[in-house]
Amino acid sequence: MRVGLLTGGGDVPGLNAVIRAVVKRGEGEHGHSIVGFRHGWRGLADGDVMPLTRSHIRNVLPTGGTLLGTARYHPHADDGGLDAVRATLEEERIEALICIGGDGTLHAASKVAESGVKIVAVPKTIDNDVWGTDRSIGFDTAVSIATEAVDRIHTTAESHNRVMIVEVMGRHAGWIAATAGIAGGAELVLAPEEPFDIDRVVRFLQHRHRAHASFSIIVVAEGAVPMEGSSMTYETRLGPFGEIVAGAISERLGAEIAARTGFDTRVTILGHVQRGGTPTPADRILGSRMGVAAIDAVSAGESGVMTALRGDDVVLVPLSEIAGKVKQVPAEMLEVARALA
Ligand code: F6P
Repeated sequence: MRVGLLTGGGDVPGLNAVIRAVVKRGEGEHGHSIVGFRHGWRGLADGDVMPLTRSHIRNVLPTGGTLLGTARYHPHADDGGLDAVRATLEEERIEALICIGGDGTLHAASKVAESGVKIVAVPKTIDNDVWGTDRSIGFDTAVSIATEAVDRIHTTAESHNRVMIVEVMGRHAGWIAATAGIAGGAELVLAPEEPFDIDRVVRFLQHRHRAHASFSIIVVAEGAVPMEGSSMTYETRLGPFGEIVAGAISERLGAEIAARTGFDTRVTILGHVQRGGTPTPADRILGSRMGVAAIDAVSAGESGVMTALRGDDVVLVPLSEIAGKVKQVPAEMLEVARALA
């Protein structure tokens, strides 16, 4: 069987582990030919193809990024995009497709699957907000980078008696903010799940600095917003694919806190450093498990499904079940971040 493979949306560490697993298992166990499409759905629509054999995946396990390249392009949202995808699949005699992506790529996958193409999807996003799976590939690496950053911010915050705001990624869910905040011992975690009250934030900082501390660390997800009706106005700025303009909330929050408290305040925007570099062992293992599960599912004739981690097991869930849903941080985890401030 000829099986196509693409990586779409923002890159994450661990993608090459999936590609490697699909090629090794696909060739070795099932006797398939694996064909890669460069730059996600864009390459599939444009016929930008590359062979994927064992020689292409040598030594890629510890590498970040994606050897296939990626792009934010959604064929169903482009005039003629779906037809172009189908034409390439026919020309390349592709019988099934494995798509590795986050919400945008998975939504596109369900649309392409509806049009009769056999698809198995694999969830990746450092945001960890794909519904139906306990973990998405890339999240563990991002948390470890963000936690190290919070640890490092600690010593300089304390030396200078400053309020330090650390902005992490997370548009619709604050998984990185909550986990790196707890692991790094931040005083406040602000996440999209719970719009914040700026008056409470200010009261908390004033009380803490009066009572026992000379510095504070606030981890804020890029998608965090103030409560409606609160005394801080803010409008989230979005790019063409719904991505949040980095730094917008933290710069605004920093200015607000400095003005209201008089505390020396600094902002650090971690940005794409969270997505770069070598994957953690956990992401390499998850990527490898999901790659094997995906190619095994294709070989078993499955379609319209996504590989998912549930507890200790990798299972298949229908794409139709996850469409339009966002996996948010449980209130209990945000409460832990609050309780340990
Ligand atoms: O892919 C998810 C993500 O990392 C978000 O957390 C972030 O908002 C967005 O991508 C950034 O997109 P880009 O890399 O296109 O700037």
